[in-house]
Amino acid sequence: MALEQAEVYARRRARAMERMGAGSVGIWMAPPERVRNHDVDHPYRQTSELLYLSGCAEPEAVLVLCPDLSEGERSILFVRPRDTEREIWYGRRLGPARAREYYGVDTTYDINEIDQVILTLLGGAERLFLRMGLEPAQDQRALKWLEQVKRKRRNGVITPSQIIDPAQILDEMRLIKDPTEMTWMRKAAAINIAAHRAAMSAAQPEMYEYELAALLHYHYSRQGCTGTAYQSIVGGGDNATILHYTENQDPLKDGELVLIDAGCEWNYYASDITRTFPVNGRFSPQQRDVYTIVLNALDAAIAQCKPGNRIQDVHEAALRRLTEGLVALRVLEGDIDELIVARAYETFYMHRTSHWLGLDVHDAGGYHDAQGRPRILRPGMVLTVEPGLYFHAYHNVTTADPFQGIGIRIEDNILITENGYENLTLHTPRTPDEIEAACTS
Ligand code: GLY
Ligand code: MN
Ligand code: MN
Repeated sequence: MALEQAEVYARRRARAMERMGAGSVGIWMAPPERVRNHDVDHPYRQTSELLYLSGCAEPEAVLVLCPDLSEGERSILFVRPRDTEREIWYGRRLGPARAREYYGVDTTYDINEIDQVILTLLGGAERLFLRMGLEPAQDQRALKWLEQVKRKRRNGVITPSQIIDPAQILDEMRLIKDPTEMTWMRKAAAINIAAHRAAMSAAQPEMYEYELAALLHYHYSRQGCTGTAYQSIVGGGDNATILHYTENQDPLKDGELVLIDAGCEWNYYASDITRTFPVNGRFSPQQRDVYTIVLNALDAAIAQCKPGNRIQDVHEAALRRLTEGLVALRVLEGDIDELIVARAYETFYMHRTSHWLGLDVHDAGGYHDAQGRPRILRPGMVLTVEPGLYFHAYHNVTTADPFQGIGIRIEDNILITENGYENLTLHTPRTPDEIEAACTS
Protein backbone atom coordinates (compact mmCIF):
# COMPACT_ATOMS: atom_id res chain seq x y z
CA MET A 1 0.00 0.00 0.00
CA ALA A 2 1.22 3.52 -0.71
CA LEU A 3 3.03 5.22 2.15
CA GLU A 4 0.50 8.04 2.39
CA GLN A 5 -2.29 5.47 2.58
CA ALA A 6 -0.51 3.58 5.36
CA GLU A 7 -0.20 6.90 7.19
CA VAL A 8 -3.97 7.43 7.03
CA TYR A 9 -4.51 4.10 8.78
CA ALA A 10 -1.76 4.88 11.30
CA ARG A 11 -3.50 8.15 12.18
CA ARG A 12 -6.81 6.34 12.67
CA ARG A 13 -5.17 3.79 14.95
CA ALA A 14 -3.52 6.60 16.93
CA ARG A 15 -6.88 8.33 17.39
CA ALA A 16 -8.56 5.08 18.36
CA MET A 17 -5.85 4.44 20.98
CA GLU A 18 -6.22 7.96 22.32
CA ARG A 19 -9.92 7.26 22.84
CA MET A 20 -9.30 3.83 24.34
CA GLY A 21 -7.02 5.46 26.89
CA ALA A 22 -4.25 4.09 29.09
CA GLY A 23 -4.77 0.65 30.60
CA SER A 24 -6.52 -0.68 27.48
CA VAL A 25 -5.92 -3.30 24.83
CA GLY A 26 -8.07 -3.69 21.71
CA ILE A 27 -8.41 -6.83 19.62
CA TRP A 28 -10.02 -7.02 16.18
CA MET A 29 -10.33 -10.45 14.55
CA ALA A 30 -11.08 -11.19 10.91
CA PRO A 31 -14.26 -13.24 10.46
CA PRO A 32 -13.90 -16.88 9.43
CA GLU A 33 -14.17 -17.89 5.80
CA ARG A 34 -17.61 -19.38 5.30
CA VAL A 35 -18.54 -22.46 3.36
CA ARG A 36 -21.24 -21.86 0.76
CA ASN A 37 -21.55 -25.45 -0.33
CA HIS A 38 -19.26 -28.40 -0.88
CA ASP A 39 -15.65 -27.13 -1.35
CA VAL A 40 -16.91 -23.62 -2.20
CA ASP A 41 -16.69 -20.57 0.06
CA HIS A 42 -18.73 -17.39 0.05
CA PRO A 43 -16.78 -14.41 -1.27
CA TYR A 44 -14.71 -13.16 1.64
CA ARG A 45 -15.48 -9.78 3.21
CA GLN A 46 -13.31 -8.40 6.00
CA THR A 47 -15.05 -6.70 8.93
CA SER A 48 -15.43 -3.00 8.43
CA GLU A 49 -13.66 -2.16 11.70
CA LEU A 50 -10.53 -4.07 10.71
CA LEU A 51 -10.59 -2.42 7.29
CA TYR A 52 -11.04 0.97 8.92
CA LEU A 53 -8.06 0.53 11.21
CA SER A 54 -5.64 -1.23 8.87
CA GLY A 55 -6.91 -1.73 5.32
CA CYS A 56 -6.08 -5.41 5.83
CA ALA A 57 -8.61 -7.54 3.95
CA GLU A 58 -6.93 -10.89 4.68
CA PRO A 59 -8.78 -13.75 6.34
CA GLU A 60 -7.37 -14.89 9.70
CA ALA A 61 -5.82 -11.49 10.42
CA VAL A 62 -5.95 -10.12 13.98
CA LEU A 63 -5.11 -6.53 14.85
CA VAL A 64 -4.14 -5.66 18.42
CA LEU A 65 -3.78 -2.07 19.65
CA CYS A 66 -1.93 -1.42 22.90
CA PRO A 67 -1.92 2.28 23.85
CA ASP A 68 0.34 1.55 26.84
CA LEU A 69 3.26 0.41 24.71
CA SER A 70 5.71 2.97 23.40
CA GLU A 71 5.32 4.65 20.05
CA GLY A 72 6.51 2.31 17.32
CA GLU A 73 5.31 -0.80 19.20
CA ARG A 74 1.63 -0.17 19.76
CA SER A 75 -0.07 -1.62 16.69
CA ILE A 76 0.43 -5.31 16.15
CA LEU A 77 -0.93 -7.34 13.24
CA PHE A 78 -1.07 -11.12 13.11
CA VAL A 79 -1.33 -12.60 9.62
CA ARG A 80 -1.13 -15.98 7.92
CA PRO A 81 2.43 -17.22 7.34
CA ARG A 82 3.91 -17.82 3.91
CA ASP A 83 3.10 -21.38 2.84
CA THR A 84 4.17 -22.61 -0.58
CA GLU A 85 1.63 -25.37 -0.82
CA ARG A 86 -1.34 -23.29 0.37
CA GLU A 87 -0.26 -20.44 -1.89
CA ILE A 88 -0.13 -22.76 -4.92
CA TRP A 89 -3.65 -23.93 -4.19
CA TYR A 90 -5.36 -20.84 -2.81
CA GLY A 91 -3.34 -17.75 -3.65
CA ARG A 92 -0.43 -15.58 -2.60
CA ARG A 93 0.09 -14.44 0.96
CA LEU A 94 2.11 -11.48 2.21
CA GLY A 95 3.32 -13.22 5.33
CA PRO A 96 4.37 -11.35 8.50
CA ALA A 97 7.64 -9.88 7.19
CA ARG A 98 6.12 -8.16 4.17
CA ALA A 99 2.86 -7.36 5.94
CA ARG A 100 4.65 -5.04 8.35
CA GLU A 101 5.93 -2.85 5.58
CA TYR A 102 2.80 -3.14 3.46
CA TYR A 103 0.31 -2.15 6.14
CA GLY A 104 2.68 0.17 8.01
CA VAL A 105 1.88 -1.38 11.40
CA ASP A 106 4.54 -1.44 14.13
CA THR A 107 4.93 -5.20 14.51
CA THR A 108 3.68 -8.28 12.74
CA TYR A 109 3.54 -11.91 13.79
CA ASP A 110 2.59 -15.23 12.32
CA ILE A 111 -1.04 -15.81 13.36
CA ASN A 112 0.00 -19.20 14.75
CA GLU A 113 1.97 -17.38 17.47
CA ILE A 114 -1.01 -15.42 18.76
CA ASP A 115 -1.89 -17.66 21.73
CA GLN A 116 1.50 -16.96 23.33
CA VAL A 117 2.02 -13.34 22.27
CA ILE A 118 -1.45 -12.15 23.23
CA LEU A 119 -0.92 -13.12 26.88
CA THR A 120 2.01 -10.73 27.10
CA LEU A 121 -0.01 -7.98 25.44
CA LEU A 122 -3.01 -8.46 27.74
CA GLY A 123 -0.92 -8.46 30.93
CA GLY A 124 -1.12 -5.03 32.58
CA ALA A 125 -4.34 -3.95 30.85
CA GLU A 126 -7.52 -3.23 32.81
CA ARG A 127 -9.90 -2.99 29.86
CA LEU A 128 -10.25 -5.09 26.74
CA PHE A 129 -11.94 -3.57 23.68
CA LEU A 130 -13.45 -6.53 21.88
CA ARG A 131 -16.61 -7.05 19.87
CA MET A 132 -18.40 -10.09 21.28
CA GLY A 133 -21.46 -12.00 20.19
CA LEU A 134 -20.79 -12.21 16.46
CA GLU A 135 -18.67 -15.36 16.24
CA PRO A 136 -19.04 -17.83 19.12
CA ALA A 137 -15.69 -19.47 18.27
CA GLN A 138 -13.91 -16.11 18.51
CA ASP A 139 -15.66 -15.29 21.78
CA GLN A 140 -14.43 -18.61 23.17
CA ARG A 141 -10.93 -17.94 21.98
CA ALA A 142 -10.78 -14.51 23.58
CA LEU A 143 -12.33 -15.73 26.84
CA LYS A 144 -9.72 -18.46 26.97
CA TRP A 145 -6.95 -15.86 26.61
CA LEU A 146 -8.52 -13.87 29.45
CA GLU A 147 -8.68 -16.94 31.65
CA GLN A 148 -5.05 -17.75 30.94
CA VAL A 149 -3.79 -14.24 31.55
CA LYS A 150 -5.76 -14.08 34.79
CA ARG A 151 -3.41 -16.68 36.22
CA LYS A 152 -0.72 -14.00 36.19
CA ARG A 153 -2.65 -12.09 38.84
CA ARG A 154 -1.07 -14.13 41.58
CA ASN A 155 2.24 -12.55 40.47
CA GLY A 156 0.76 -9.08 40.85
CA VAL A 157 0.01 -8.52 37.17
CA ILE A 158 -3.11 -6.48 36.39
CA THR A 159 -5.38 -8.21 33.86
CA PRO A 160 -8.54 -7.01 32.08
CA SER A 161 -11.68 -7.02 34.21
CA GLN A 162 -13.85 -5.16 31.69
CA ILE A 163 -14.78 -5.97 28.09
CA ILE A 164 -15.93 -2.95 26.08
CA ASP A 165 -17.51 -2.93 22.62
CA PRO A 166 -15.05 -1.04 20.37
CA ALA A 167 -18.06 0.39 18.52
CA GLN A 168 -18.21 2.86 21.42
CA ILE A 169 -15.14 4.62 20.07
CA LEU A 170 -15.04 3.61 16.41
CA ASP A 171 -18.66 4.39 15.52
CA GLU A 172 -18.17 8.04 16.39
CA MET A 173 -14.95 8.18 14.36
CA ARG A 174 -16.54 6.41 11.39
CA LEU A 175 -19.46 8.86 11.37
CA ILE A 176 -17.15 11.65 10.24
CA LYS A 177 -15.43 10.69 6.99
CA ASP A 178 -11.83 11.75 6.45
CA PRO A 179 -10.59 13.01 3.05
CA THR A 180 -9.52 9.51 1.92
CA GLU A 181 -12.95 8.12 2.69
CA MET A 182 -14.61 11.02 0.86
CA THR A 183 -12.45 10.36 -2.21
CA TRP A 184 -13.34 6.68 -2.22
CA MET A 185 -17.04 7.35 -1.71
CA ARG A 186 -17.02 9.86 -4.61
CA LYS A 187 -15.40 7.17 -6.73
CA ALA A 188 -17.96 4.53 -5.70
CA ALA A 189 -20.73 7.01 -6.49
CA ALA A 190 -19.26 7.89 -9.90
CA ILE A 191 -19.04 4.24 -10.95
CA ASN A 192 -22.56 3.61 -9.71
CA ILE A 193 -23.95 6.64 -11.54
CA ALA A 194 -22.56 5.30 -14.83
CA ALA A 195 -23.99 1.84 -14.10
CA HIS A 196 -27.47 3.24 -13.41
CA ARG A 197 -27.30 5.32 -16.58
CA ALA A 198 -26.36 2.23 -18.56
CA ALA A 199 -29.31 0.34 -17.09
CA MET A 200 -31.71 3.14 -18.07
CA SER A 201 -30.35 3.14 -21.58
CA ALA A 202 -30.54 -0.64 -21.96
CA ALA A 203 -33.96 -1.33 -20.46
CA GLN A 204 -36.80 -2.29 -22.74
CA PRO A 205 -39.99 -4.31 -22.55
CA GLU A 206 -39.54 -8.09 -22.27
CA MET A 207 -36.01 -7.82 -20.91
CA TYR A 208 -35.62 -9.62 -17.60
CA GLU A 209 -34.83 -7.97 -14.30
CA TYR A 210 -31.67 -10.08 -14.03
CA GLU A 211 -30.37 -8.65 -17.31
CA LEU A 212 -30.32 -5.18 -15.78
CA ALA A 213 -28.73 -6.55 -12.61
CA ALA A 214 -26.07 -8.22 -14.76
CA LEU A 215 -25.39 -4.96 -16.57
CA LEU A 216 -24.89 -3.09 -13.29
CA HIS A 217 -22.56 -5.80 -11.98
CA TYR A 218 -20.59 -5.76 -15.22
CA HIS A 219 -19.99 -2.04 -14.78
CA TYR A 220 -18.93 -2.49 -11.16
CA SER A 221 -16.51 -5.32 -11.94
CA ARG A 222 -15.08 -3.64 -15.00
CA GLN A 223 -14.10 -0.63 -12.91
CA GLY A 224 -12.34 -2.75 -10.30
CA CYS A 225 -14.89 -2.47 -7.51
CA THR A 226 -14.31 -4.61 -4.43
CA GLY A 227 -17.87 -5.88 -4.76
CA THR A 228 -21.48 -4.91 -4.46
CA ALA A 229 -22.44 -3.12 -1.27
CA TYR A 230 -25.62 -5.21 -0.89
CA GLN A 231 -27.82 -7.47 -2.98
CA SER A 232 -29.07 -5.53 -5.97
CA ILE A 233 -32.77 -4.80 -6.21
CA VAL A 234 -34.24 -4.71 -9.73
CA GLY A 235 -38.02 -4.72 -9.47
CA GLY A 236 -40.36 -4.20 -12.39
CA GLY A 237 -44.05 -3.34 -11.91
CA ASP A 238 -45.38 -4.26 -8.50
CA ASN A 239 -42.10 -5.97 -7.56
CA ALA A 240 -40.98 -2.38 -6.92
CA THR A 241 -43.39 -2.23 -3.97
CA ILE A 242 -41.34 -4.92 -2.15
CA LEU A 243 -38.69 -2.94 -0.34
CA HIS A 244 -35.95 -5.58 -0.40
CA TYR A 245 -36.94 -7.49 -3.54
CA THR A 246 -33.80 -9.33 -4.69
CA GLU A 247 -35.10 -12.25 -6.76
CA ASN A 248 -34.75 -10.21 -9.98
CA GLN A 249 -36.29 -12.99 -12.09
CA ASP A 250 -39.30 -11.42 -13.79
CA PRO A 251 -39.72 -9.90 -17.26
CA LEU A 252 -40.05 -6.13 -17.52
CA LYS A 253 -43.36 -5.07 -19.02
CA ASP A 254 -44.29 -2.32 -21.40
CA GLY A 255 -46.00 0.51 -19.54
CA GLU A 256 -44.59 -0.40 -16.15
CA LEU A 257 -41.87 1.19 -14.06
CA VAL A 258 -38.72 -0.54 -12.90
CA LEU A 259 -37.02 0.33 -9.61
CA ILE A 260 -33.28 -0.27 -9.32
CA ASP A 261 -31.64 0.02 -5.91
CA ALA A 262 -28.03 -1.06 -6.38
CA GLY A 263 -24.57 -0.05 -5.27
CA CYS A 264 -20.94 -0.97 -5.63
CA GLU A 265 -18.06 -0.81 -3.17
CA TRP A 266 -14.88 1.03 -4.03
CA ASN A 267 -12.09 -0.01 -1.67
CA TYR A 268 -14.92 -1.42 0.44
CA TYR A 269 -16.78 1.93 0.58
CA ALA A 270 -20.40 1.74 -0.44
CA SER A 271 -22.53 3.62 -2.86
CA ASP A 272 -26.32 3.21 -2.62
CA ILE A 273 -28.40 4.66 -5.46
CA THR A 274 -32.06 4.07 -6.25
CA ARG A 275 -33.73 5.23 -9.44
CA THR A 276 -37.15 4.34 -10.81
CA PHE A 277 -37.84 4.71 -14.52
CA PRO A 278 -40.29 3.63 -17.22
CA VAL A 279 -39.44 0.33 -18.91
CA ASN A 280 -40.45 1.76 -22.29
CA GLY A 281 -38.73 5.09 -21.69
CA ARG A 282 -41.88 7.26 -21.28
CA PHE A 283 -43.66 7.99 -18.00
CA SER A 284 -47.46 7.77 -18.13
CA PRO A 285 -49.10 10.95 -16.75
CA GLN A 286 -50.06 9.06 -13.61
CA GLN A 287 -46.55 7.62 -13.11
CA ARG A 288 -45.09 11.06 -13.66
CA ASP A 289 -47.42 12.54 -11.01
CA VAL A 290 -46.36 10.03 -8.37
CA TYR A 291 -42.70 10.29 -9.41
CA THR A 292 -42.82 14.07 -9.07
CA ILE A 293 -44.17 13.82 -5.54
CA VAL A 294 -41.29 11.54 -4.51
CA LEU A 295 -38.78 13.80 -6.26
CA ASN A 296 -40.16 16.84 -4.42
CA ALA A 297 -39.81 14.92 -1.17
CA LEU A 298 -36.22 14.05 -2.07
CA ASP A 299 -35.38 17.68 -2.85
CA ALA A 300 -37.07 18.97 0.31
CA ALA A 301 -35.27 16.38 2.43
CA ILE A 302 -31.88 17.09 0.85
CA ALA A 303 -32.42 20.82 1.46
CA GLN A 304 -32.37 20.00 5.19
CA CYS A 305 -28.93 18.43 4.90
CA LYS A 306 -26.67 20.97 6.55
CA PRO A 307 -24.58 21.22 9.69
CA GLY A 308 -26.66 21.96 12.76
CA ASN A 309 -29.87 20.39 11.46
CA ARG A 310 -31.07 17.12 12.94
CA ILE A 311 -31.25 13.94 10.89
CA GLN A 312 -34.91 13.95 11.98
CA ASP A 313 -35.40 17.23 10.06
CA VAL A 314 -34.44 15.39 6.86
CA HIS A 315 -37.04 12.68 7.55
CA GLU A 316 -39.75 15.15 8.53
CA ALA A 317 -39.26 17.21 5.35
CA ALA A 318 -39.79 14.06 3.29
CA LEU A 319 -42.85 13.04 5.30
CA ARG A 320 -44.49 16.41 4.78
CA ARG A 321 -44.02 16.41 1.01
CA LEU A 322 -45.13 12.80 0.68
CA THR A 323 -48.23 13.45 2.78
CA GLU A 324 -49.07 16.57 0.75
CA GLY A 325 -48.63 14.51 -2.40
CA LEU A 326 -50.91 11.73 -1.16
CA VAL A 327 -53.58 14.35 -0.44
CA ALA A 328 -53.10 15.88 -3.91
CA LEU A 329 -53.57 12.41 -5.41
CA ARG A 330 -56.75 12.07 -3.28
CA VAL A 331 -55.37 8.94 -1.71
CA LEU A 332 -55.48 10.62 1.69
CA GLU A 333 -57.88 13.26 2.85
CA GLY A 334 -57.59 15.72 5.70
CA ASP A 335 -55.36 18.27 7.36
CA ILE A 336 -51.68 17.73 6.52
CA ASP A 337 -50.41 18.23 10.08
CA GLU A 338 -53.04 15.90 11.50
CA LEU A 339 -52.29 13.26 8.87
CA ILE A 340 -48.59 13.46 9.74
CA VAL A 341 -49.27 13.11 13.46
CA ALA A 342 -51.54 10.12 12.72
CA ARG A 343 -48.81 8.64 10.47
CA ALA A 344 -51.37 8.21 7.70
CA TYR A 345 -48.49 8.03 5.19
CA GLU A 346 -47.22 4.78 6.72
CA THR A 347 -49.26 2.51 4.46
CA PHE A 348 -47.42 3.99 1.48
CA TYR A 349 -44.11 4.99 3.05
CA MET A 350 -43.05 2.58 5.76
CA HIS A 351 -39.30 3.13 6.06
CA ARG A 352 -37.00 5.86 7.33
CA THR A 353 -35.61 8.42 4.90
CA SER A 354 -31.92 8.07 5.72
CA HIS A 355 -29.15 5.85 6.97
CA TRP A 356 -25.44 6.48 7.38
CA LEU A 357 -23.28 5.30 4.49
CA GLY A 358 -19.62 4.26 4.49
CA LEU A 359 -17.79 0.96 4.82
CA ASP A 360 -21.18 -0.58 5.56
CA VAL A 361 -24.17 0.34 3.47
CA HIS A 362 -26.06 0.86 6.71
CA ASP A 363 -22.98 2.38 8.27
CA ALA A 364 -21.81 2.57 11.84
CA GLY A 365 -23.05 5.31 14.11
CA GLY A 366 -26.15 5.90 16.18
CA TYR A 367 -29.07 7.98 14.99
CA HIS A 368 -29.33 9.53 18.43
CA ASP A 369 -26.68 11.06 20.65
CA ALA A 370 -25.70 9.77 24.09
CA GLN A 371 -28.69 11.64 25.59
CA GLY A 372 -31.14 10.02 23.17
CA ARG A 373 -31.66 13.17 21.09
CA PRO A 374 -31.79 12.94 17.28
CA ARG A 375 -28.29 13.28 15.88
CA ILE A 376 -27.12 16.74 14.77
CA LEU A 377 -25.57 16.71 11.28
CA ARG A 378 -21.90 17.68 11.08
CA PRO A 379 -19.46 18.13 8.19
CA GLY A 380 -18.04 14.79 7.06
CA MET A 381 -21.15 12.72 7.74
CA VAL A 382 -22.53 10.79 4.77
CA LEU A 383 -26.16 9.76 4.68
CA THR A 384 -28.63 8.52 2.13
CA VAL A 385 -31.86 10.35 1.40
CA GLU A 386 -34.37 7.90 -0.05
CA PRO A 387 -38.06 8.76 0.07
CA GLY A 388 -40.52 6.54 -1.75
CA LEU A 389 -44.19 5.73 -2.29
CA TYR A 390 -45.36 2.15 -2.56
CA PHE A 391 -48.87 1.21 -3.64
CA HIS A 392 -48.62 -2.45 -2.79
CA ALA A 393 -51.26 -5.16 -2.97
CA TYR A 394 -51.58 -5.52 0.81
CA HIS A 395 -53.19 -2.21 1.69
CA ASN A 396 -56.94 -1.78 1.87
CA VAL A 397 -57.22 1.91 1.08
CA THR A 398 -59.57 2.00 -1.89
CA THR A 399 -58.65 5.56 -2.82
CA ALA A 400 -55.18 4.15 -3.65
CA ASP A 401 -56.52 1.60 -6.14
CA PRO A 402 -55.74 3.67 -9.25
CA PHE A 403 -52.06 3.57 -8.27
CA GLN A 404 -51.82 -0.06 -7.24
CA GLY A 405 -48.65 -1.70 -8.53
CA ILE A 406 -46.64 1.53 -8.57
CA GLY A 407 -43.53 1.58 -6.40
CA ILE A 408 -41.17 4.53 -6.60
CA ARG A 409 -38.05 5.28 -4.59
CA ILE A 410 -35.35 7.81 -5.41
CA GLU A 411 -32.13 7.64 -3.40
CA ASP A 412 -29.13 9.94 -3.32
CA ASN A 413 -25.94 9.89 -1.21
CA ILE A 414 -25.24 13.12 0.62
CA LEU A 415 -21.98 14.32 2.18
CA ILE A 416 -22.46 17.04 4.79
CA THR A 417 -20.03 19.92 4.18
CA GLU A 418 -19.14 23.09 6.11
CA ASN A 419 -21.77 25.09 4.23
CA GLY A 420 -24.39 22.50 3.42
CA TYR A 421 -23.95 19.35 1.42
CA GLU A 422 -22.41 17.70 -1.60
CA ASN A 423 -24.74 15.33 -3.43
CA LEU A 424 -22.37 12.52 -4.42
CA THR A 425 -24.96 10.97 -6.75
CA LEU A 426 -26.41 14.17 -8.22
CA HIS A 427 -25.54 13.24 -11.80
CA THR A 428 -27.70 10.16 -11.84
CA PRO A 429 -30.69 11.19 -14.01
CA ARG A 430 -33.37 12.29 -11.56
CA THR A 431 -36.01 14.57 -13.12
CA PRO A 432 -38.63 12.87 -15.32
CA ASP A 433 -37.21 14.62 -18.39
CA GLU A 434 -33.61 13.62 -17.57
CA ILE A 435 -34.74 10.06 -17.02
CA GLU A 436 -36.68 9.86 -20.29
CA ALA A 437 -33.63 11.25 -22.09
CA ALA A 438 -31.34 8.68 -20.44
CA CYS A 439 -33.77 5.86 -21.30
CA THR A 440 -33.69 6.75 -24.99
CA SER A 441 -29.99 7.59 -25.27
N1 GLY B 1 -30.26 -0.72 -0.48
C1 GLY B 1 -30.46 -0.68 0.91
C2 GLY B 1 -30.94 0.63 1.32
O1 GLY B 1 -31.28 1.45 0.50
O2 GLY B 1 -30.96 0.93 2.46
MN1 MN C 1 -30.62 1.64 -1.52
MN1 MN D 1 -30.17 3.13 1.26
